[in-house]
Amino acid sequence: MSPKGRPEGECRSAQHEGHPVNPTGRPEGECRSAQHEGHPVNPTGRPEGECRSAQHEGSPASAFAYASGELHAEAVPLASIAERFGTPCYVYSRAALEGNFRAYDRAFAGLPHLVCYAIKANSNLAVLDLFARLGSGFDIVSGGELARVLAAGGDPAKVVFSGVGKTETEMEAALAAGILCFNVESAEELETLAAVAARAGKVAPVSFRVNPDVDPKTHPYIATGLKESKFGVAFADAPALYRRAAALPQIAVRGIDIHIGSQITELAPYREAAAKVLDLVDRLAADGIALHHIDMGGGLGIRYRDETPVALADYAGMLRELFRGRREQLLLEPGRRLVGDAGVLLTRVTYLKPGQDRAFAIVDAAMNDLLRPALYDAWHPVDPVRPRAAPSRRWEIVGPVCESGDFLARDRELALAPGDLLAVGAAGAYGFVMSSNYNSRPRAAEVIVDGERVHVVRSRETTAELFAREIPLPKA
Ligand code: LLP
Repeated sequence: MSPKGRPEGECRSAQHEGHPVNPTGRPEGECRSAQHEGHPVNPTGRPEGECRSAQHEGSPASAFAYASGELHAEAVPLASIAERFGTPCYVYSRAALEGNFRAYDRAFAGLPHLVCYAIKANSNLAVLDLFARLGSGFDIVSGGELARVLAAGGDPAKVVFSGVGKTETEMEAALAAGILCFNVESAEELETLAAVAARAGKVAPVSFRVNPDVDPKTHPYIATGLKESKFGVAFADAPALYRRAAALPQIAVRGIDIHIGSQITELAPYREAAAKVLDLVDRLAADGIALHHIDMGGGLGIRYRDETPVALADYAGMLRELFRGRREQLLLEPGRRLVGDAGVLLTRVTYLKPGQDRAFAIVDAAMNDLLRPALYDAWHPVDPVRPRAAPSRRWEIVGPVCESGDFLARDRELALAPGDLLAVGAAGAYGFVMSSNYNSRPRAAEVIVDGERVHVVRSRETTAELFAREIPLPKA
């Protein structure tokens, strides 16, 4: 059961379609894509219905849904959050976060495995704490992320450290903390790690990230497993690297890992990569190098618009099949899949500017708050918090930052008035964490809704904090 007492897998709304459905008076229980564009608005609230979908296996799917004509986060009207905490504001659902973790973890039940949440997707301490309480491990990529995991009470013995550029200082900190494994990405990194471990009088547990050279069929900026990418070591080089590692007294060979990309919506690239890795593991074993774990990385996509995400059961089923009869532990590094649909970015319309060519809705969130649309041309759903019964038109949803690339959404059919609140959906992953202070904009607040309660988990930055570290030159 979900913390709210609803059976998992049941949902009150079409949130399983990736974003909350506009209350258009569709028949109860009807599960279809949220067509907030071009529908007559009838903000009467959506009767509770039950629906199941592949995306929400086991998770409470109704985190963001309309009730009584307004959009809620769990039991809390988003409008009340805007009143209390201001906008822009990231709003996460505890039930969705926990449901997503449980669903992912449960998909691998019976298989020796460890879910290491990739904290880069959303590294708020409160989120890390929730996952740590559920037994999660963590995938980190910097000393800062290690410090976050430790501050949140995460177990260092369940931490894997990825990334191509670990510094000696970061290695020292991770050795001192006693992490599970360093995911090493080059021959030079291995030698540096061995030297750092020798200085510290420790033995460093190591996995090599190999590059399986498969096409994950995703945005080029987030494809990482092609041979032209900077990530991992070539398959052909792996045997020699493992032999070298095995010969170094400061290194303990533990595993192997891959991460082929992000927002992947097909199973085939995973299957291809996994088969290649298992073949390599067997060749290494024949060479006398036995591994304890095989880390399949993360990358499972979610629905932003009309994508069909890979069902967890299919993904886990594929791995079960491949791992049948094997002794190695399976490690997984999901990021987006655990947090993406568990958050929205709440923003308010400042001005409406019906231009000559295009009409602009200027909102108080911007590319500094949510960079994905500007950086990847990513599509996020945008839903009115209180839909109005008025004629709609097509809007460019843009922020106040002085860049033409500062848009959150383009060409969206909405009925808007100044002061309206909008929820930018599926913003729980790579949202706040990629935000900046560009244009000297304080970063947004973050809150977690838990049933009827709202917890501020990061207060809004103040303008004084923006330049608190800056020091003018002496006058003389
Ligand atoms: N493991 C490693 C080594 C990674 O580099 C990543 C993500 C993950 C796991 C988690 O991947 P996920 O399950 O979240 O797809 N900023 C981009 C995504 C960058 C992903 C970077 N690496 C975006 O907003 O789409």
